[in-house]
Amino acid sequence: MTVLVTGGAGYIGSVTARAIEARGEHVIVLDNFSTGHRQIEGLLPGVDFIEGDYSDRDILQNIFSKKRAIDAVIHFAGMTLVGESMDRPSDYVRMNFVGTLTLLEEMAARNVHHFIFSSSAATFGVAEQVPIDEKHPQRPINPYGWSKKAVEDLLPYLKGVGGPAYIGLRYFNAAGAARDGLLGEVHRPETHLIPNILNAALTGSAFHIFGTDYPTDDGTCERDYIHIEDLAEAHVLALYALRRGHDSGFYNLGNGQRASILRVLETARCVTGLSISVIESIRRPGDPPILVASSDRIKHDLNWKPQREDLAVIIEDAWRFLREHPDGYR
Ligand code: UFG
Repeated sequence: MTVLVTGGAGYIGSVTARAIEARGEHVIVLDNFSTGHRQIEGLLPGVDFIEGDYSDRDILQNIFSKKRAIDAVIHFAGMTLVGESMDRPSDYVRMNFVGTLTLLEEMAARNVHHFIFSSSAATFGVAEQVPIDEKHPQRPINPYGWSKKAVEDLLPYLKGVGGPAYIGLRYFNAAGAARDGLLGEVHRPETHLIPNILNAALTGSAFHIFGTDYPTDDGTCERDYIHIEDLAEAHVLALYALRRGHDSGFYNLGNGQRASILRVLETARCVTGLSISVIESIRRPGDPPILVASSDRIKHDLNWKPQREDLAVIIEDAWRFLREHPDGYR
């Protein structure tokens, strides 16, 4: 069968596109390369790439009419930064919500039955308790989280009128790199914690901690870092599950291990063997203090088994990728 992967030239999308293709699927990536990397096309020779927006009806109609064997869409594309969403709320609604609605309408019109959606821990807002399971209330505190929750809320209604069956995966913090060092995290500008710490280690520049006065054990934000290949594997399982007729629904996806910024920093110092200088800065707007997942449900329902849970292993893989790609993809 053929799987359409939107945003497959990005970090999570490229690792997942490769994992799906490795299972013998035909994979088509649709990416406008606004944040994705053209070089990834050369790194994934078995994958077909189409340049364009996932919200462009003409492109979607063209793809779905010509590639009749497409039975599933894995939707990574969109805007993904919590901090940016606070500055550009309308763009997040337009791209992540309205754009995704267009994609879903075209899927329904062309009888594309399966939809795997990149949702987010950001849909939960401030955690009432951790780990966060699927029953935890979803009260996003930034437009990014709002846009993801809005799509989640819409999916059952669309399914009721002929829209696709769906599995939404609420990622906690994707991190690390492919074990073979081919694919990893490159954003321009980079805003994410682990690459920023490792960039500071590599270049000798200072790393900024955004907030040391949170209500956490050491005062810095706690997150749940999940290895990118474990995350990709969950999509493979979700695809197979939908094809077997598995119920539609949503799953939290993380390691279940809390790591504060200071703990990530200390682990990075151990992995790199380098002292990393730090500047304590003010809080970044929109950041919840703690996001840690319970992934029991996906482990139970889809038999997901993370392989690289150790934070040091995650950081080692990211560090190997960064040293091999100090200037990103070239
Ligand atoms: N941080 C720093 N310094 C930096 C970068 C980040 O202190 O240079 C802090 C942030 O303020 C935050 C934590 O490190 O407290 C993690 O920040 P990231 O930017 O790495 O990740 P976020 O938790 O903000 O967001 C990520 C993804 C989102 C996703 C979310 C789910 O970017 O798409 O995880 O938890 F929704």
